[in-house]
Amino acid sequence: MNKMRLGVNIDHIAVLREARRVNDPDILNGLFVACQNGADQITIHLREDRRHIQDIDVKNIMLHSTLPINLECSINKEILNIVCDVKPHRATLVPEKREEVTTEGGLDIFGSEDEVRYAIELLHDSIIPVSLFVDPSIEAMDKSKELGAEMVELHTGTFANLFAMLNSNLGSSNHSVKEFELPRYELSDRLEKSLEDIKLSAKHADSLGLEVAAGHGLNYNNVHEMMKIEEIVELNIGQSIIARSVFSGLSDAVKVMKKLTTR
Ligand code: PXP
Repeated sequence: MNKMRLGVNIDHIAVLREARRVNDPDILNGLFVACQNGADQITIHLREDRRHIQDIDVKNIMLHSTLPINLECSINKEILNIVCDVKPHRATLVPEKREEVTTEGGLDIFGSEDEVRYAIELLHDSIIPVSLFVDPSIEAMDKSKELGAEMVELHTGTFANLFAMLNSNLGSSNHSVKEFELPRYELSDRLEKSLEDIKLSAKHADSLGLEVAAGHGLNYNNVHEMMKIEEIVELNIGQSIIARSVFSGLSDAVKVMKKLTTR
């Protein structure tokens, strides 16, 4: 049996739809294609600014999905109440800033400890297991356990950015990341360190009894590095799958990713 679950994040189908505010592309079609072609879970993020997924999408996806739904949300009380009503299979708590293009880092579980603890308790009262999207560090694993989460999702954005800088020849137009100016040996060292942080955090979280997922910036070129870390049992991937689907169709994009994430 495959020991890695593939969570397909379908938010970007809604991003395209919201560009015109018509029901095209239909997110439920995206859901069905992902379900039929190898996804093990559907991941969606109900943002406070509703820039992509809308409340009605959450309800429809919950109603029609044949797969578990991982609903990402912030620790905002209004959003948490919606999540408690909807009762997804799991809630993943993520940070949110209105001006950001996408989630830029892990949840600040040290600075917002009380709010995160409250959010976890609220979700647990509704019998919803909780994952915390956190930067990979030993301290964050210990704190996640102490706060009562069942699971952590390791933020892989730093790893993915560094991997892209070292392995793509698209030039700096591809990125707005400050590390781009660094010499290659420095980038190499940082990439190695980012992978080591993910590996050590995954191992530590596993030893604490936390389930371990990873996500953000994972794609067809870099996902093999995550496959080597046996404590990671779930990957949540959105942008690269939907981007590939523009050229090859969503069924192909999900199938190919499924193949790369099977072990
Ligand atoms: N996991 C979490 C917690 C996220 O917030 C996101 C981005 O919405 C993803 C995974 C997917 O990231 P990407 O779209 O870069 O694959």
